[in-house]
Amino acid sequence: MRAIILAAGLGTRFKSDKPKVLHEILGKPMLWYVLTNVKNGRIEDICVVVGHKAEEVMSIFKDENLKFFIQKNPKGGTADAVIAAKDFFASYDGYVLIINGDSPLVSGETIRNMQQFIHMVQVYEGIKLSGVVLTAYLPDPTGYGRVIKEEGSDRILKIVEEKDASIEEKAIKEINAGTYIFYAPHLLEALYSIKPSEVTGELYLTDVVKYMTEKGYEVRSFMAKEPSEAMGVNTRWDLALVENLIKLKIVKFWTEKGVTVHFPETVWIEPDVSLEKDVEIFPDVILKGKTKVKKGTIIGKGSVIKDSVIEENVQIREYSIIENSKIEKGAIIGPFARIRNKSEIGELAEIGNFVEVKKSKVGRNTKAKHLSYIGDATIEEDVNVGAGVVFANYDGKNKHSSYVGKNVFIGSNSLLIAPIKLGDFAYIAGGSVVNKDIPEESLAVSRPELKIIPRKGKKLLDK
Ligand code: UD1
Ligand code: CA
Repeated sequence: MRAIILAAGLGTRFKSDKPKVLHEILGKPMLWYVLTNVKNGRIEDICVVVGHKAEEVMSIFKDENLKFFIQKNPKGGTADAVIAAKDFFASYDGYVLIINGDSPLVSGETIRNMQQFIHMVQVYEGIKLSGVVLTAYLPDPTGYGRVIKEEGSDRILKIVEEKDASIEEKAIKEINAGTYIFYAPHLLEALYSIKPSEVTGELYLTDVVKYMTEKGYEVRSFMAKEPSEAMGVNTRWDLALVENLIKLKIVKFWTEKGVTVHFPETVWIEPDVSLEKDVEIFPDVILKGKTKVKKGTIIGKGSVIKDSVIEENVQIREYSIIENSKIEKGAIIGPFARIRNKSEIGELAEIGNFVEVKKSKVGRNTKAKHLSYIGDATIEEDVNVGAGVVFANYDGKNKHSSYVGKNVFIGSNSLLIAPIKLGDFAYIAGGSVVNKDIPEESLAVSRPELKIIPRKGKKLLDK
């Protein structure tokens, strides 16, 4: 079995400079979903027909082991697109799946079932089908090709495009989902026999069905499991609806694995994210990229996590942002914390409100609970980073790193000027500017003398 994905169209209704199939659904291009579904349909030999902004599409999918064919006239129509890929199947004595690049909801399971259907008809009825067309009943079939069948059977006589349909044909609610399996030799024959539409001048792939049945070849319909699978993405509103459906599918999948999701309609989980049981997700959470969240972790409202690993039983409180980082077991993050650029937060550590951690390692049980900046630092375990402590890691030209030994106490509002090293059990008094290394167990105080002038305060306040 081979597959052809049609992705050469102009996507006019999107009104975009970007090719339609590259528009993203939950962080992945629409075409990625079609490709993934085809692969899940157990087809490995796949080609994509590109045309409009072909280079862009090919460069994004260059590592996917695909063949590309270029349709010279992206207004030629869906049959013209298949003709562009004829070398892919012209000497192939087997079946070819053809799927629209704007149909991201057709599942791998449905693709497998269509193949199975061809096999069953052959085994039980002794008929070698020339084609199977995926169809669905839609309450509002507007815009889709209508499927005209022989009375009381699954045999398709023809597919009529909306633009060419009569009033009676428009009333038909069974539509073409834009996913087909054809026997390659019959497909090739049909493609060279069809004529351009009188209405649009395009060569319609759907017209191969009429040719086949008139020739006495048999084409049957196969009903999609869920009618939503048939949805084609023609407009940005379709994109929004499909994104919503895919999102709910992903959330449902994780709830079945033991994840609690509160207000799922507000939660965004991308397809490569992985979660473990007893993870609990509050509203407005966004989980992106290859994020992994382990057992028992709670993610508070409005938090955003990208390409990070969150170990077991972590509490991520409201509105925290974590990117490219690792959080160890039992740590408490946020509310309103930001952790980024390969940071690692140790077991049971606490990173609290308005604390930013950049490219730093924070040891086990170390706490930075309020208003700090920790950049390019290694902090060992059991350290207390007071409110408002700043690691000054940038001198205007270069970044420098800091090292803080275990059990160090850094008083509030201290400034540590990197490169710097604080030994184990060092004590930095609040408000100190520290620009020299502090040996272990030492106290460091740097504070301008405090002057107290009696009654001067009141005088200044008097008008
Ligand atoms: C198509 C079907 C219609 C079906 C619907 C399902 C035809 C003639 N009609 O209509 O029966 O109900 O899909 O969604 O096939 N493409 C090319 N080259 C072209 C034109 C299109 O590669 O010259 C690609 C597009 O990029 C797109 C796919 O083919 O991914 C479908 O094309 P589109 O124009 O969206 O077809 P529909 O009008 O939706
Ligand atoms: Ca379409």
